[in-house]
Amino acid sequence: MDIQAIKNRFGIIGNSPALNYALQVAVQVANTDLTVLINGESGVGKEVFSQIIHALSARKHNPFIAVNCGAIPEGTIDSELFGHEKGSFTGAVDNRKGYFETVNGGTIFLDEIGEMPLGTQARLLRVLETGEYIRVGSSKVQKTDVRVIAATNRDLLERTQQGKFREDLYYRLNTVPIRVPALRDRKEDIPLLFRKFSVDFSEKYKTPSIQLDDEARNALVNYPWRGNVRELKNIAEQISVLSTDKLVTGHDLKRFLPEHLEVNRLPMLAAPQPHTGGDFASERDILYKLFFDMKKDVTELKKMFFDILQNPSIAHNHDFHPADTHVLHSYPATATDIAPQAPTIGNTQPIIIQDNKIDHHEEVEETLSIADKEKELIVKALKKHKGKRKDAALDLGISERTLYRKLKEYNIAE
Ligand SMILES: Nc1ncnc2c1ncn2[C@@H]1O[C@H](COP(=O)(O)OP(=O)(O)O)[C@@H](O)[C@H]1O
Ligand SMILES: [Mg+2]
Repeated sequence: MDIQAIKNRFGIIGNSPALNYALQVAVQVANTDLTVLINGESGVGKEVFSQIIHALSARKHNPFIAVNCGAIPEGTIDSELFGHEKGSFTGAVDNRKGYFETVNGGTIFLDEIGEMPLGTQARLLRVLETGEYIRVGSSKVQKTDVRVIAATNRDLLERTQQGKFREDLYYRLNTVPIRVPALRDRKEDIPLLFRKFSVDFSEKYKTPSIQLDDEARNALVNYPWRGNVRELKNIAEQISVLSTDKLVTGHDLKRFLPEHLEVNRLPMLAAPQPHTGGDFASERDILYKLFFDMKKDVTELKKMFFDILQNPSIAHNHDFHPADTHVLHSYPATATDIAPQAPTIGNTQPIIIQDNKIDHHEEVEETLSIADKEKELIVKALKKHKGKRKDAALDLGISERTLYRKLKEYNIAE
């Protein structure tokens, strides 16, 4: 089949040799029942590839389902994939069919397969080799005919060496490997993709379609795109919506590329610049600044609290008015109300309470890493809710799945 026709049909943009090769393999293998392992960084188009393979296969009229193995808790993934019998575990109030049953005749896309627990890997290997599976809590062997397409953004071979992925399963899945290249390895596709996305978004948002000057095009092509096509699409959307000029210059563009927003430069960016007239990028800078201001205040409050604990008499001393000695930041109702300030954010300043009773002060050296803070909060929330993920997630304002993902990401043992 003609590769260009496939691209048109599925909206695939790009003409780099590595992308064309990956597509060609996908097309060739689509109509077989072979297991496919798609490799590539996040956002390169692995899921799109799995959909193409299904749509070009004899199974196209049967169901397709994408399952993210990294987002399903270890305790429920077997039951989601293979089903369970009533009463087989707490919470199993009914019999439940698994995806290998409901998708019979179709295709299952197992995303982030490297995250699949070892026990589930054993079940998967069996179903791949014999078409047989058993519901959790049952002893009845059932048959299914499902084509498996798996994807990973990790080095699965390395996972096997670490004992985290079954070697036999790895070779079974890897019958046909497809490598979808990272965007930075097919730079020639970047302008094509950007043009397509910006045209689509300007139609969607009814804004004039944007053009890049040479410098902007250069910056775009040389940007590392760690989030690959997904990230490029997001940036194209932001620019399409927020750019005030039809012609985007290199300078304009840089404001949209997160790479250029280094944390220690944020206060500078938050200062008014002639060309940042209340647009999205500067709003974001302001939000960052607000965030760091708040963080600094929390640090200061903690320090005060600590000091009071050390010396309770201060709390009863009428002369002690923290507000007199410390002007805590006040947070305006809208971000744009913030007056530009001298850049002081990021330096943790020692607190000197001007009450002569206290002369000791120590530097509160705090990590400014958002990841560290996040981890700390998660641990706190879990502790507060005695390990109940559901309540902890609610408290944190994230979904249980996100919490689960983050537990793995930060390697938090419960
Ligand atoms: N070559 C491409 N042309 C156009 N859009 C693409 C291309 N590759 C990926 N996309 C888009 O990028 C986004 C991310 O793709 P996805 O398949 O979800 O990536 P992955 O599964 O590798 O994380 C989707 O919106 C997809 O439609
Ligand atoms: Mg994906």
